[in-house]
Amino acid sequence: MEIYCGLCGEKSHQLFSHLREVHEMGPDRYGERCPDAPLVSEDLAGYIRESRIVASDEGLKKQTELYGVEFLTDILPGELVPDVDEDYVFQEEFSRQVLISLKEKEKILLVGPTGCGKSTLIEQLAARLNWPVVRVAASGGLTESDLLGEWTVRDGETVYNYGFLPRAMKMGAICLIDEIDGIEPSVAFSIHQVMEARGKLVLLQNGGEIIEPHESFRLVTTANSLGHGDETGLYAGIKVLNAAFLDRFASVFEMSYMPPLLEAQIIRNRAPSCTKALARTLVKVAGFHPTRTGRFCPPHDKALLTFQFLTPPVPCGHQPILWYEGQNTCQGSSF
Ligand SMILES: Nc1ncnc2c1ncn2[C@@H]1O[C@H](COP(=O)(O)OP(=O)(O)OP(=O)(O)O)[C@@H](O)[C@H]1O
Ligand SMILES: [Mg+2]
Repeated sequence: MEIYCGLCGEKSHQLFSHLREVHEMGPDRYGERCPDAPLVSEDLAGYIRESRIVASDEGLKKQTELYGVEFLTDILPGELVPDVDEDYVFQEEFSRQVLISLKEKEKILLVGPTGCGKSTLIEQLAARLNWPVVRVAASGGLTESDLLGEWTVRDGETVYNYGFLPRAMKMGAICLIDEIDGIEPSVAFSIHQVMEARGKLVLLQNGGEIIEPHESFRLVTTANSLGHGDETGLYAGIKVLNAAFLDRFASVFEMSYMPPLLEAQIIRNRAPSCTKALARTLVKVAGFHPTRTGRFCPPHDKALLTFQFLTPPVPCGHQPILWYEGQNTCQGSSF
């Protein structure tokens, strides 16, 4: 049942917004004017208790537990929160360790071969915690201006257009920098300061503005190599990361491909028409691919020939799920 405002008789389940908008007062002043008058209805109070909603310095938050780690999350997904992928398969213990690091505000580096799920792991954890993600790829010409911002003219006025990093820091997002091992050394240098424990960012470009990290800001990076350059020749554009840069990561996680049974499960989640046996075979064949064996196969290599025979003529990479989806779109190819 709704309650009534003690000042004007308006009916509502909660009076916070009504008091602010109509009477221009907060709950404290209302309490002085109408002592003992409730601010929320019994129904809403019950819902709040059940949904584990709590008041915090940043307003109402929800207590959410994910793989045994507790977070205070936004109640509803806001801007830049990734969509939940219901088919995503988590490795529980690994996810728990990453979540603990996120909770502890550690700077994280996830290292592993292409397609093993580094970027999507962060996105899918964030999706379940209503945590916004600002995602950017470090390789392929990321500049200091992209990352930090630059002066620009908007509607005839010169304004500072904040880059990915200060934007994530201000809004309390996870800044996910992919392919950090492809970053230009000069750009890497510009994020050194943020990687300190309570790292603030000084934007010299904007008159030395100091950006304080929001309570929920996190920095997560991903890479295919451990910063020593690429010895396999499989990844283009990999640079050797400076030791001082690597040392700033409190958590370095090495990630590899899922155990075969889980990977077969991913295929069947995404493509329910794929039989168990076919899913397992696809995972087995994927094991021959150079990104999985860690060595480059010359074109006459038997494993690669097998792989090419099985791969439909679409840009599928090495992922068995893409082969399965590809073969359904390619006439004449069969498994
Ligand atoms: N655990 C998983 N469950 C479901 N899908 C997955 C899983 N891991 C990876 N994928 C799928 O594989 C694809 C590649 O994953 P992702 O981009 O996260 O890999 P990555 O390790 O970041 O690769 P890269 O090094 O190339 O950036 C995505 O489409 C993702 O949905
Ligand atoms: Mg990635």
